Amino acid sequence: GPLNGTLGDPAAATIPTAGVTRQVGEQLAGRAGTEVTVDVQSRLESVTTRNVLAQTRTGRTDNVVMAGAHLDSVPDGAGINDNGTGSAGLLAAALEMGGSPDVHNAVRFAWWGAEESGLVGSTKYVQGLSFEQQLDIALYLNFDMIGSPNAGYFTFDGDDSDGVGAGEGPYGSAQIEQDFIDAMARRGVELRGTDFNGRSDYGEFIAVGIPAGGLFTGAEGVKTEEEAALWGGTAGESYDPHYHTAGDDLGNVDRRALKLNTKGLADVVAGYARSTEAVNG
Ligand code: PHE
Ligand code: ZN
Ligand code: ZN
Ligand code: ZN
Repeated sequence: GPLNGTLGDPAAATIPTAGVTRQVGEQLAGRAGTEVTVDVQSRLESVTTRNVLAQTRTGRTDNVVMAGAHLDSVPDGAGINDNGTGSAGLLAAALEMGGSPDVHNAVRFAWWGAEESGLVGSTKYVQGLSFEQQLDIALYLNFDMIGSPNAGYFTFDGDDSDGVGAGEGPYGSAQIEQDFIDAMARRGVELRGTDFNGRSDYGEFIAVGIPAGGLFTGAEGVKTEEEAALWGGTAGESYDPHYHTAGDDLGNVDRRALKLNTKGLADVVAGYARSTEAVNG
């Protein structure tokens, strides 16, 4: 049958991702009816890191819904919020969906390598596709930091509707922004926009014109009074005080934020598996 588990081309990086990459592969292989082979080659000074990809057996393969999260962390810490949260949320959605869901569009899940080394895995992946293969991707959804301990609830600003920064995504991204806003509103959370500033794995997707979106709970930015009134948490403190430090451990997660965002991302992915008409026309 159609492919369901693949690995991208190897990409050089200097970070120890082998263990967690293998773990995600084993989870998918055992529980989602998905065959994944993970082969990570390590040396002392550098690691050859790979993306882990898993795709449903079902659904149109010329209108693929892609969703991704980076699996690596910075060397200083375990990277639990950045980006164990996005990786786990995406894994939960994949396991819930299973290998052969009754869907209109195929769903392709990606756990990226070497994001922290400069978006290496996702960039190599997109650049490695032919133009036709890029056209077969209906949209890309990104989940990088979805459980920040002083969480903001952000979605990428597809139409630069806040008028600040250079946040605009390709045509269709405004609809994705709206679909995340609606999905999270159904769960009682009011999202705010955050600019596409090129700092995560959606970068190469929007560079080639693929509509994109996603969820994000904030990194080193500081929560405002207005945001604290809207979402709770502490104004004047950063969304993640342990961003890129050894303190990004298992205690560094707002579990409520992680749970809400995991459910919201599963809703949105499942919705696009049914139809991407509103995004792509
Ligand atoms: N990509 C950044 C990191 O991993 C975090 C980030 C995500 C920043 C989304 C902005 C928007 O450190
Ligand atoms: Zn990071
Ligand atoms: Zn990150
Ligand atoms: Zn903007």
